[in-house]
Amino acid sequence: MKETVRVLLSEEEVDQRIAEIAAEINRDYKDEHVHLISVLKGGVFFTCELAKRLDMPVSMDFMVVSSYGASTKSSGIVKIVKDLDEEIAGKNVLVVEDIIDSGRTLSYLLSYLRKRNPRSLKICTLLDKPERRVTDVSVDYTCFQIPDEFIVGYGLDYAQKYRNLPYIGVVELD
Ligand code: IMP
Ligand code: MG
Repeated sequence: MKETVRVLLSEEEVDQRIAEIAAEINRDYKDEHVHLISVLKGGVFFTCELAKRLDMPVSMDFMVVSSYGASTKSSGIVKIVKDLDEEIAGKNVLVVEDIIDSGRTLSYLLSYLRKRNPRSLKICTLLDKPERRVTDVSVDYTCFQIPDEFIVGYGLDYAQKYRNLPYIGVVELD
């Protein structure tokens, strides 16, 4: 089977939309300090592009999470591979995600972070596939809502490939 990647959102479209979302975040938080929590690996490109456009004081931390075992799609149990380096109590936490699919990872992460008493807790995602949602999570900032297709590029992978593409694409097997 031959794999090809079709462009869904060009580099220019993505950059422009990130700038819009950053402007919204700048307006909402004004000059308050924001503590970004980037969810790796997928969130890495988006986090950098977003962070560069924020005007307030920003600090950053990184988490690596993975689904537990092979059949975790339904279990919803998430393993924390790399935990926070810094306390989040009293901070305005903004979680930066690549994509929200079923929402299980995010639900787990939110309950984990809430227990650490942040001053506020919001979510910012590059992509959202609302059709696929099985949990009740509300997302504060979404760059793009997309149909239920397998996405790569801009940090997202298919079997660890394509993360480095500067655009958002759809994998096609033919
Ligand atoms: P959720 O827990 O089902 O919302 O899954 C979220 C995670 O699944 C994301 O952070 C991605 O790592 C991965 N994922 C979901 N959809 C895609 C996709 O279309 N392409 C690449 N990774 C995806
Ligand atoms: Mg993710």
